[in-house]
Amino acid sequence: MILLNEILSKYPKEQEYLIEILLEYQTSKKNHYISSEDVASISKYLGVPESQVCSVISFYSLLSMKPKGKYVIQVCHDVPCFVNDSTSIYDKLVEILEINDGETTKDNLFTLEITECLGRCNEAPAMRVNNLVYVSLTPAKVEKIINDLRGEKK
Ligand code: FES
Repeated sequence: MILLNEILSKYPKEQEYLIEILLEYQTSKKNHYISSEDVASISKYLGVPESQVCSVISFYSLLSMKPKGKYVIQVCHDVPCFVNDSTSIYDKLVEILEINDGETTKDNLFTLEITECLGRCNEAPAMRVNNLVYVSLTPAKVEKIINDLRGEKK
């Protein structure tokens, strides 16, 4: 709860900051998710019902109440990336991670997600791993990125 309290203390106790708080906290938290205890704390801090916090989490696809892997990989599938063969990037990830959209590897290292524009269309295809966006991808580049991340684990 220390991390959550640190993040909450940066925001005024106003409902309009709910999404920003949720996004910042989820990004910072190991396993990238909002637990029911977190929902209770955020609800108390902002003075909004827990049901409202849960509704916001379920409405925004970036937010989750389900634990994710250490690395959340989001492959852009919007038109500019799609026409630059983002499908081959996604297929390569499915092949090497042996998971599909929304799933997490058994070792809890990677979660794979399809997402919308990451704002790097000029360098498509793109994917984000946690806070870092990788661009101009090829299947070979993707394999190297995954191998490097697996190496960091050791
Ligand atoms: S469409 Fe993929 S980064 Fe914009």
